[in-house]
Amino acid sequence: MAVPYTNPGDALQLYTRVEKVPGYFNYDDAQHFQLVLRMQSLMGITGDLLEIGCWKGRSALFMSFFVQPRERLIISDVFSQPANDVYSEYPSVDEVKKNLEMNPNIASSQLLFLEGNSANLQLPPDVKLRFAHIDGGHSFQECYRDLITITPRMILNGVVVIDDYDHPDWPEVKLAADTWLKKYSQFRVLGELNRNVAKGKKIYLINIASSNQ
Ligand SMILES: C[S@@+](CC[C@H](N)C(=O)[O-])C[C@H]1O[C@@H](n2cnc3c(N)ncnc32)[C@H](O)[C@@H]1O
Repeated sequence: MAVPYTNPGDALQLYTRVEKVPGYFNYDDAQHFQLVLRMQSLMGITGDLLEIGCWKGRSALFMSFFVQPRERLIISDVFSQPANDVYSEYPSVDEVKKNLEMNPNIASSQLLFLEGNSANLQLPPDVKLRFAHIDGGHSFQECYRDLITITPRMILNGVVVIDDYDHPDWPEVKLAADTWLKKYSQFRVLGELNRNVAKGKKIYLINIASSNQ
């Protein structure tokens, strides 16, 4: 961690466990995710969790700690298949599965890996999402399409988090998010949050009107 906390809270203690997995998700994200995910659970909001773009699985592992007994964590990535965005290496499903084993409390039946470009993402028909982390392709087309794919699956009070919003190197993500938001006004901004060291923000959007229950 870049900042030494002398008295870290519980989100940070959990973060120190997931930090062993290489990734981009940082300790500010951990605190923001925990606040949303725990609040949803305490308010009785239940649904599946989705991440598009897991890389080695750091953020997915963090999310897995908040999955409740009748919920699933769905993880989408190109994995070993070609992508538009260039990374020094791509993860394998086995590698991410292994990293997810760092959470002993999540059953393998609660994890669903969807391999391939998210342009072809096929969510099982019974998937209803309370939380979706969009962290895959950074082009307008990819980000917008990911948002369109998840829109009908978001439940009332479901939260969408879009990574690299307002990032100087990835300007199309903001454009895609803003374009989508204009069209789907049931999603309202909860927060446009800065994160230590990261150049971009994560934007948090809540669905205030949905028939997807
Ligand atoms: C920034 S990384 C994810 C980081 C991870 N969420 C974390 O916080 O550690 C983006 C991931 O998206 C994947 N990706 C890029 N374009 C994609 C696409 N079109 N469909 C599915 N996955 C994609 C890449 O393979 C990469 O693993």
